[in-house]
Amino acid sequence: MNVVVLISGGGTNLQALIDGQLDKTLPITIQSVISNKADAYGLERAKLAGINTDVLDHKAFDSREAFDQAMIKIIDQYKPELVVLAGFMRILTPEFTRHYLGRMINIHPSLLPKYQGLHTHKRAIEAGDKEHGCSVHFVTEELDGGPVAMQAVVPIEKNDTPETLATRVLTQEHIIFPESVKLFAEKRLTMGENSSVLDGTAL
Ligand code: GRF
Repeated sequence: MNVVVLISGGGTNLQALIDGQLDKTLPITIQSVISNKADAYGLERAKLAGINTDVLDHKAFDSREAFDQAMIKIIDQYKPELVVLAGFMRILTPEFTRHYLGRMINIHPSLLPKYQGLHTHKRAIEAGDKEHGCSVHFVTEELDGGPVAMQAVVPIEKNDTPETLATRVLTQEHIIFPESVKLFAEKRLTMGENSSVLDGTAL
């Protein structure tokens, strides 16, 4: 399955996908890793694995719409069956999300619908939550609001800081993100009307 991965940063989730491609546990070919930041370390990870990269600096565009249209042009060259947002830190326009509806997923570091947006670990600790985690979801117009495909739960320990909690959550991200991509590649996971659908059953 042809995949394009969008990143903005370090790319540990990207690495989990690259590892799956290389050891053949994931039936994917990452056609390109695209970053809106030229210094994103994830680009190095792609290059080390011999994967093509593209950089499209959002600051070079007058509007979000213009940036997203340019992104679509680049992404569609690769004819991806799935677009994977792996730490891509840009808000997407409705035109962009509609274009890839049902074939774009994101990893978010919270148990959605809790803590959409930023600073999720800090917010979970400050709220006194006992549990936190991460979610893979299909991307819709609503920020971090699309149908959830998979979640992993981690405990919040007494002395956790946002950093220690983030590390614990990230370990789980690296498990459920490739697993979701695999299920999608096997056509077992799809986006339904109001929820994700796994093996024919609405989640
Ligand atoms: C992860 O926490 C992910 O959930 C969020 O951005 C972070 C990306 O980390 N969307 P990395 O670049 O994959 O290491």
